[in-house]
Amino acid sequence: QRRTSLMLLFWRISSAFPSLSRVLTEAGAEEEHVELFTTPQTKMGAATSDFGYNLFRALASRDATANVFLAPISVSAVLTQLSMGDRSERAQSQLFRALRYHTLQDPQLHNTLKDLLTAVRAPGKGLSTAARVYLSRRLRLKQEFLTLVEQQYGIRPKAVLGKNTKDVNDWVAQQTDRKVQNFLAAAFPQNPGVNAVSAAYFKGKWVTRFGQSGTMETFQLDSGAPLRIPMMQQGNYPVKMGVDSELSCTIAQIQMQDDVSMFIFLPDDVTSNMTLLEESLTAEFVQDLSMTLLPAQVSLTLPVLRLSYSTDLLPLLSDLGLSEWLADTDLEKISTQPLKLTSVNHKVVMEMAPEGKQYPSATSAPSHLSYRVDRPFLYLIRDETSGALLFIGRVANPTGLTI
Ligand SMILES: *[C@@H]1O[C@H](CO)[C@@H](O)[C@H](O)[C@H]1NC(C)=O
Repeated sequence: QRRTSLMLLFWRISSAFPSLSRVLTEAGAEEEHVELFTTPQTKMGAATSDFGYNLFRALASRDATANVFLAPISVSAVLTQLSMGDRSERAQSQLFRALRYHTLQDPQLHNTLKDLLTAVRAPGKGLSTAARVYLSRRLRLKQEFLTLVEQQYGIRPKAVLGKNTKDVNDWVAQQTDRKVQNFLAAAFPQNPGVNAVSAAYFKGKWVTRFGQSGTMETFQLDSGAPLRIPMMQQGNYPVKMGVDSELSCTIAQIQMQDDVSMFIFLPDDVTSNMTLLEESLTAEFVQDLSMTLLPAQVSLTLPVLRLSYSTDLLPLLSDLGLSEWLADTDLEKISTQPLKLTSVNHKVVMEMAPEGKQYPSATSAPSHLSYRVDRPFLYLIRDETSGALLFIGRVANPTGLTI
């Protein structure tokens, strides 16, 4: 019974929307190269997004069926601060390549990034981030480095005792409206080194409200029994939509306040293996996609999520081409003593709740299409002004996510 209604649903969506892959192939066949990112800020937005997609792929492929969440722009921020400690140009260009800055040719790179970070943290967008370099107190530090980073990014790298987690946790909580708590579950590694700290909290506000929320609905897991989880629901919901037949998923873009939007990639089948989709994610792909989606009114059903996720990203950096940079650390602008990167802790908290501004207009005819996010999905939060990726996640199993 359920399968039939799903198939009917997909038939309806597929017939109502052009196939994205077809549109994309036709555009590509003309071999016309359109410059998608033209201003320093949108180029920087694309660079931080591409770094983010690479990092997400690295993390997601470690466990192809687990929940994964990242706020990559905060990781870009802390690694860029760290790059100011590289002595040689060779080491710095390795790091810049991983951060995808090598194509920018931006002599004002640090200022452009600083402006982007300020723009995406505007209060209405719902994102707060923390990014700071913590150094072992046992190191003899060069004051010039600390001052340089502080002058550029307004955050002074800090020397701490490895076991002093409270200092770090208090600072992260304070930077994130007290939403990211207990950042470090354990002390920094014992050996004296550099710890790159990044964290983010996101709670966007929908432009269109959800009228119904908290009703328990079925969420079908890839394996195992269906779950009952709280969902929010609203009819006549304005979204932009499209079907990607090659990636076998239906995509919806939902507008949030202050020029932020959420893209949901919902696989046609119940599967938490989204490798194919993950492999196609780039800043350019998402930008192209956003221009192909078509406006629609749908009956929209989304899980209500309050999630918290933390991980040490250090083991992933070698997947991003940083093996040599890590092995042959050259952070002599930080200290003359040999220095290693010892942790890249990252923690995110996100709330996907019903708050919003206005109800959908009552005058429009009831929606025939429905978009029900009731099985594993992938989503991303993008700042539309700069194109910067603010948040990305794969929800395989919504239990065990709640804070
Ligand atoms: C996930 O899907 C890809 C291709 O779609 C496949 O190659 C891979 O083996 C799958 N991984 C798992 C863990 O099932």
